[in-house]
Amino acid sequence: MSDTKTDTPKKLFIKTYGCQMNVYDSERMAESLEGYVQTDTAEDADMILLNTCHIREKAAEKVYSELGRLKPLKDLKPDLKIGVAGCVAQAEGAEIMRRQPAVDLVVGPQSYHRLPQMEARLREGKTALDTDFPEEDKFAHLKGRTGARRAPAAFLTVQEGCDKFCAFCVVPYTRGAEVSRPAERVLREAQELVERGVREVTLLGQNVNAYHGDMTLAQLIRALGKIDGLERIRYTTSHPNDMDDDLIAAHADTPKLMPYLHLPVQSGSDRILKRMNRSHTAESYLRLIERIREVRPDIMMSGDFIVGFPEETEADFQATMDLVEQVNYGYAYSFKYSTRPGTPAASRAQVDPAEADERLQRLQALITRQQRAIQESMVGRDLSVLVEKAGRNAGQMLGKSEYLHSVHIDNSTAQIGDVVPVRITRAMTNSLTAREL
Ligand code: SAH
Ligand code: SF4
Ligand code: F3S
Repeated sequence: MSDTKTDTPKKLFIKTYGCQMNVYDSERMAESLEGYVQTDTAEDADMILLNTCHIREKAAEKVYSELGRLKPLKDLKPDLKIGVAGCVAQAEGAEIMRRQPAVDLVVGPQSYHRLPQMEARLREGKTALDTDFPEEDKFAHLKGRTGARRAPAAFLTVQEGCDKFCAFCVVPYTRGAEVSRPAERVLREAQELVERGVREVTLLGQNVNAYHGDMTLAQLIRALGKIDGLERIRYTTSHPNDMDDDLIAAHADTPKLMPYLHLPVQSGSDRILKRMNRSHTAESYLRLIERIREVRPDIMMSGDFIVGFPEETEADFQATMDLVEQVNYGYAYSFKYSTRPGTPAASRAQVDPAEADERLQRLQALITRQQRAIQESMVGRDLSVLVEKAGRNAGQMLGKSEYLHSVHIDNSTAQIGDVVPVRITRAMTNSLTAREL
């Protein structure tokens, strides 16, 4: 029975939650599963993979409700395989199969290179579970970036894991210890991506600026800058303590490095920063931004904030508001503190949820005001846009500015993958409109 359709590729549906690293990992998993082609509907899939996120309670719970929705598909089609990958897989392991018996496969982020063997087990009618932190380097065992032409902007993981142990965060437990990939392999992968039409890479790491794979991140960025056809380089996410002088200098001396920096601070209160185990102060963060702006005055700053961390008082929160006022962010992401099992902050005195909600709203209003003002200040300015796709209106193309704003170019003659000079004509809530120069 099972030897029918051996030549027809099976269909793989992957749903990705969480951060950019999961987006990258989903691509690598799809590439590693030979004999499958990707589909964008769960209904016609032979295998469904949920690539999950454990960062906040809501993110983790989403996975179980999605699995509940998928179960009827399996009742209709008993050969359907359902797998859970990502940080919930790492954190909950076999518990996932207990809570939802329709799940056949659970794989943690450090074991993706073992996916083909795990899939073979499923074909024998068995289940597969792997949440090891294996000795071998998973990237060395994943296939190269062969295959079809790709979108002009791509992610490229250079570092994974975290040794910082912020008191609220699950990442050191779900992604494991910091590991950097050898520079030569990163350079080869970037070259493979460029050969498939990629013009911009965003280097990824949970602490990307702690990269130490026989080069520093600054040296790696300069080496990537020498690849013909690669026009733009970005990196995320950085930790303030790992922002060294040479990386700051790279923002001045490497034209392909884009003037955008995501540098989470979490809080503006030194008392809370200490309780968070962040090992920097509000003042040292502000001084760091000053130094970056000295060499690159136009750099677009982005950040992450947590409000309602245990023991946060109104005065602590006010210090966060003051810090935001001083930095003037182009982008900022703010979250209400979510208790994560097994983290040090989980057992501390929690802030009243209504109070935390109210603070979150005040912070988000301030951030929105800053973002709008910066968007509006772009009108009349000349920027460059990497064209990523056709817009909704005829003749319109859509892409990203060097500062990561979404830009609609009207009456464009540009092709996907071109980097074109434009003048900004209008600012809208989430994007800019421009004409070609
Ligand atoms: N490695 C990155 C990002 C980690 S997760 C860094 O160090 O900055 C992305 C963001 O989620 C964090 O910056 C933080 O703002 C938020 N976050 C992490 N754990 C959280 C929690 N328990 N509750 C609410 N937000 C959280
Ligand atoms: Fe989490 Fe802190 Fe590590 Fe970022 S630096 S991943 S917030 S523990
Ligand atoms: Fe989520 Fe894991 Fe990324 S917890 S934010 S998917 S590292």
